[in-house]
Order: sequence, then C-alpha cells, then structure tokens
Amino acid sequence: MCGIIGYSGREQAAPILLDGLERMEYRGYDSAGVAIRSETKGLQVKKSKGRLKVLSDMIHGGADLEGTLGIGHTRWATHGEPSDVNAHPHVSESGNIALVHNGIIENYMEIKEHLIKLGVKFTSDTDSEVVAQLLEFHYRECHNMLEAVGRVLRRIEGSYAFGIICSDYPDALIAARKDSPLILGYGKGCNFIASDVTAVIKYTREVAYMDDGEIAMVTPEGIDVFDSELVPVEKAHRTVDWDVSAAEKGGYPHFMLKEIMEQPDAIRRTVSPRIREGRVVLDDVKLTPEYVKNISRIFVIACGSSYHVGMVSKYNWEKLLRRPVEVVLASEFRYCDPLVDEHSLVVVISQSGETLDTMAAMREAKRRGGRTLAIVNVVGSSIAREADDVLYTWAGPEIAVATTKAYSTQLVLMDLVGLYLGDLLGTVSAEGYAAIVEGIQRLPEQMSASLKDTEDIKYFASRYFNHDSIFFIGRNLDYAMGMEGSLKLKEISYIHSEAYASGELKHGTISLIEPGTLVVALGSYMPLFDKAMSNVVEVKARGAEVMALTAASRREKMAKTADSVIAVPDTLAMLQPSLGVVPLQLFAYYVALQRGCDIDKPRNLAKSVTVE
Ligand code: F6R
Repeated sequence: MCGIIGYSGREQAAPILLDGLERMEYRGYDSAGVAIRSETKGLQVKKSKGRLKVLSDMIHGGADLEGTLGIGHTRWATHGEPSDVNAHPHVSESGNIALVHNGIIENYMEIKEHLIKLGVKFTSDTDSEVVAQLLEFHYRECHNMLEAVGRVLRRIEGSYAFGIICSDYPDALIAARKDSPLILGYGKGCNFIASDVTAVIKYTREVAYMDDGEIAMVTPEGIDVFDSELVPVEKAHRTVDWDVSAAEKGGYPHFMLKEIMEQPDAIRRTVSPRIREGRVVLDDVKLTPEYVKNISRIFVIACGSSYHVGMVSKYNWEKLLRRPVEVVLASEFRYCDPLVDEHSLVVVISQSGETLDTMAAMREAKRRGGRTLAIVNVVGSSIAREADDVLYTWAGPEIAVATTKAYSTQLVLMDLVGLYLGDLLGTVSAEGYAAIVEGIQRLPEQMSASLKDTEDIKYFASRYFNHDSIFFIGRNLDYAMGMEGSLKLKEISYIHSEAYASGELKHGTISLIEPGTLVVALGSYMPLFDKAMSNVVEVKARGAEVMALTAASRREKMAKTADSVIAVPDTLAMLQPSLGVVPLQLFAYYVALQRGCDIDKPRNLAKSVTVE
C-alpha cells in the first residue's frame, strides 16, 4: 500500500524525496505528493493525481521547491478516490502541519465529526486528513509536536506509518508507526524515514526498524526514538546487505523480467547455506524434536501467490510428514474459529512480511496457542519480528508487483522445511531424503537452462494474447501450480483466467469450453500424466485450443494431442512446480507485453497490502 518517505538534511529535499518515491512507486501509484519546509516560504505542498511522473514534471524534478526538510507519499487509495485533493501530504487548516500516512484510521469518522463540531473545515475525503487536523488541535493546546503526536496516537485506532513536518520545526520531522512498516535511515549529515529500504539505499545502508507504538524525531544530526509514553528507546542498527543495483532494472525492460531471470541465483541463495554435507540445516529455527513429534496439525496461512505456495506445500508436506496440513487464506483464517492449539504448527508465508491479513491471522494463531514459523523475504518486517521462528527466503528486493522470485524461493524453502520436519519425525526414508536434497540442489542449474531459450514462449504469447478467457487445468501439484500461473496471467494482462482441478471441470465448468477457448493443460506431475492426457482429449473434443506444459521426457507424447507444448526439465515429482512455474510466469509476462499493459504496476494493485 502507500509508500512514505521523509528527509532531514543539508541537501535540497525535493529531488531526494522524488527519487525515493520512484523506488517505492510499486507500493501505490494512483497519486503522489511532497511537502517541503523552507526558511523563506514555510510549508509548500505539491501533489497530484496520477503517476509520480505527473508530480515530478509539475515541480521540475523538485527544482521548484526549495528546502532541506520534507516528506513524500505515493498513494494506493483506500478512503476517497484517487484525486488531487485526496493525494497526500495532508495539511492542517492553518497550513502549519503536513502529514503523510500509510494505513487506515478506523475511527476517523467519529473524530472528524467531533472536529467539524469544533469548526474545523476539511478539504478531502481521507482518514489521513483527520489526523493532520487532530494533530493541529492538540498542538495548539500543548505547543510541543512530540507531545501532540503522542496525544493523537492515544486517540486514533487502526494502522499507520506517519511522516509529519511542522513549520515551527525548521529541521525536524516526526514519524510514528503501528501495523504499517517504517524504517529509519541513518545517513551522513542527513537522516530518513521510509516505508521500505529501497527508498533510501542509495544514500545509506544503515537502518533501524521502528516498532509499533514508537515515535521518532528525525533531524540532520540524528534520530531520537521514544516509546508511546515518550520515554527514549535505543534502536539496534542493521546494515542492509544488498546495494542499489539490486533495486534497479539493470538493462531489463521491466523489473518482472529481471526478477524472473534472477530466480536461479535467488534459489541458490535460499538453499546453499541451508544444506551442509547432504543435510538440511535450519540454524534459525528453534523447534525441538520433542515439539515436532507432538505436532498434530499444520496450518499454512498466506494470501495470493504466497497462498499458492502453501497449496503446493500441502501436497508435498502431507506426503513427507504424514500429518494433516490445512492451507487457509489469511483473510479467512481469523473469522473461521480455527482449531489451533499448542500442538499446531502455524506456517505463515509472506514476501513483504507486512500483509495485514497475514499478520492478523498470525496473531490470532498465537493467541490460540499455536507456534508460528514465518517464511518471509523482507528482513526486519513485522511478520518476521513477531513470529516465533523466521526463515528468510533471501530472494533480494522484489520490485515488480507480480511476484516471481519470491514465490520460487518460498516454494523451495518450504521443501527444505518439509524435509527437515520429515526427518525429525522419521517419516522420510534415507534414500528419499538424499534424492530430494540432490534434486533441490540441481534446481538452479535446471532453471537456468530453461531460461536460456524463451523463444517458444514468446511465440505462444503472440499466438494467444488475444484470448479473453483462459483456463489452467491440472491435477495435484499441477493444479496448485496452475493457480499461480492463472493469477500471474490475470493480474498483469487483465485476461480473465481460472485455475481448475482437471477432474472437477466436468462437474460444471466444462460448459464454458467452446471452440477456440484456450486451455493451458498442466501435465508435469508424472504420477498423473496419463490422466492429464485424458483431460486434454476431453477439452479438445469440445473444441478447445490446448497449450500444454509437461516434463521434457513426455514432450513428444503430449505433442500428439495438444496444439502446442512447453517442456521443462525433468525432476522429482515434488519439485516439478519449481521448474514448471517459470514458463507460466514468462507466458504471463509476454502476453501482457503484447497487450501493452503496464507490467510492473498493474492497475488497482500494490505490492504490499497493509489494509484488510
Ligand atoms: C501476486 C502477488 C500477491 C501476493 C500477496 C501476498 O503476484 O504478489 O498475490 O502474493 O499479496 O503478499 P505477501 O507475500 O507479501 O504477503
């Protein structure tokens, strides 16, 4: 959801804020704005509906705004349509306080009504403006911004990361957070706040993660952090271990393509440190063998693509562990009175580590006594910090809204964890264990080989991009993988698409298959290959055009029935989705390219979903 940034230093703030916003534009892109404070002009606010470019052009790359203190925002609308007035920063009635906000204030209506009764006039429909006005109300009472912010935080409910400047404070910005990410960046003669490290990595790699309830005062000289009672807090600094090039396109036309191509390396980073002398070593988890032996049930909780990783893992883990694995959408979990107890292992999967539904579900699981293990990409994110155990995927920064390398690294990390638990439970044979370890270690090289030649996929994309409805069908792991292939396609190309368990098609949905309907038939799960073939015949008989995906060893057989075939290298059945998903990502990418879509920033979406 929205991206916020703040700068206090000695350089001109506006160009630095625009640069940071550009790196965070994947978080929201329906409007953008900045507020700058200068000695001569006081607070100046510029904001506009549309992409950041509109704002940047309007203020000539920041050259129009003089001042060394400022805040900026790129928005994904929740309260109030995308428009100039609803864009952030929001300014208090006197024009003395400007505020950017990421999150949702749940009790904003009640506060707004109260302020209206006191005569305050509002200009926007947003919950965020209410906070700016409330802040001014308290500031007038106490004449101290820190104190006023503290009072506001005690009054509001919901989630927030705030960046605030006030014309009475020439070089200080104030930040606060609860349930929305916010990092502090420590530069030389300048300091930052931002929703994401990518926004400040060009200027500093030294960061700290704000915790819920904390308030920070940021000046060029330093950052003072306080708890909700305004008692000073010491923050541990961390050094980010990747550099600015990891968050740039590096010659690729889109981040998505770059991230697809980075998958072999990303998987290597996830796997290599965790396999030693043929054994899976998870140094970071503190699950004791006694605890593992007593696990009666496993939940996997996630949203979107991370949920699809859970679907693949369900098939694999139930085989490896002989324990029931329930995969639940995080947004449903909280409300289904889940049967979690102290013998439940609750695995939470999230690239961003900030998805609100996933975090809320994790808290609910903990509240019910479950033990939580998070699989997360973003270091220091909220989910990573709150889980009982965390394993990082080490995929590096993922900028494209549609996930690719995070999905792949989550998948392979889940395989490692499954193997680790299966070993502790004694449910995996020695030969099976060795074969899976070997298969996992070969994945990067096999993936690299299939990424070398993408010509077939480009051709299929040019052949099929005009279809307006596409079905992905498969059984077992192919079905789970099809869910991801279908989501990739619909989110970036806007083609309606559905993933169906092949066997279920004839129970209703087959009525939608008519001459020319494109069916992507997934037949890479070798134990059910013959059944996959029968389903291809079934849809062909209704006139469908079939693009099939299978393992290289079955290419010829599949080509006898399907209209076109994509083949991926053969591996163990349980690992096949790791290889199979890559052409599906590429197919979605090239279809979207043919259709002229905005691939890295699809409409209505944002990378990190911090609202319910
Ligand atoms: C799709 C996609 C989303 C995310 C989902 C969960 O390409 O990226 O479906 O997977 O929003 O996000 P995380 O994993 O950050 O919790």
